Amino acid sequence: MADVTTEGTRPDAAMPSPERLAEAGLRFEVDGPVATLTLNRPERRNALTFTTWHTMAAVGDALPPQVRVVVVRGEGPSFCAGIDLAMFTGQGGGFPDGADPEATDTFIAGLQAGYLWLRRPDIVSIAAVHGHAIGGGFQLALSCDLRVVADDAKFCMKEPALGIVPDLTGTKPLVEIVGVAKALHLCLTTRTVLADEAERLGLAEVLVARDGLDAAVADLTTALLAVDHHTATATKRLLHQAAENTLAQQAAAERHEQRALLRRLSELTP
Ligand code: ACO
Repeated sequence: MADVTTEGTRPDAAMPSPERLAEAGLRFEVDGPVATLTLNRPERRNALTFTTWHTMAAVGDALPPQVRVVVVRGEGPSFCAGIDLAMFTGQGGGFPDGADPEATDTFIAGLQAGYLWLRRPDIVSIAAVHGHAIGGGFQLALSCDLRVVADDAKFCMKEPALGIVPDLTGTKPLVEIVGVAKALHLCLTTRTVLADEAERLGLAEVLVARDGLDAAVADLTTALLAVDHHTATATKRLLHQAAENTLAQQAAAERHEQRALLRRLSELTP
């Protein structure tokens, strides 16, 4: 499993071509420090194929180093309808049958890599969610650091209804946000959470009218970019370890990050 606290852009990685992105149902644009990854298969409600996840991982590997904010959004009426159901059949290649544990593990890890990089400390990822966010789509929103949610959003963790667990790295953030009992309730009833409940549960940092989604994402991006990059990276790295650290460990981690920032500030001050 990738160490998401340290991995970043790989110097030897090449950004997937526009053709490869299109084949994966993706569009990727960079405007200075802001990158936008658009799920772009609206006719399939942005359903995700194995190629989509592999290509998303390749985007993360080759993310231009000046990028500080990554916005993940969906084209058309839905954010994302989750896995393309054709992936369960021969048509999409099918999943490994689990008989070879190592091969199955490697296969799933390859899909998870499509989402894991969104936690990198040197970026802040924002999911702009409207319409349906189902299964792998819900987990994609959970993989982002922040969620800006339109009032027509509908979240559903559908996997257990299909006989599988949510395995795209969404269970940890789900439990961290809503707690084990509510996460269990959402997963095992596979019920749909509407936008206002999502906000109450903490699944939405910002809730806006559907036609205000892009503007709200732009406002949040501007606010995030106002903080110095080194400071933002150190803060995210620090906050991400807080839950696992003891108080003493976290206090030490605060001192460690602060020492580096103070050194940098003193070097910058004439
Ligand atoms: N995989 C493949 N095709 C899909 C998917 C999907 N996950 N979701 C939608 N589509 C296709 C539909 O088959 C339909 O195709 P058609 O035009 O050829 O008939 C087209 O996208 C539009 O879908 P509609 O159902 O007509 O769109 P609507 O907006 O009414 O509903 C919704 C959207 C709610 C997302 C619905 O399509 C749906 O429930 N999809 C299945 C969701 C699902 O079960 N995903 C798997 C979750 S588990 C996981 O991700 C691991």
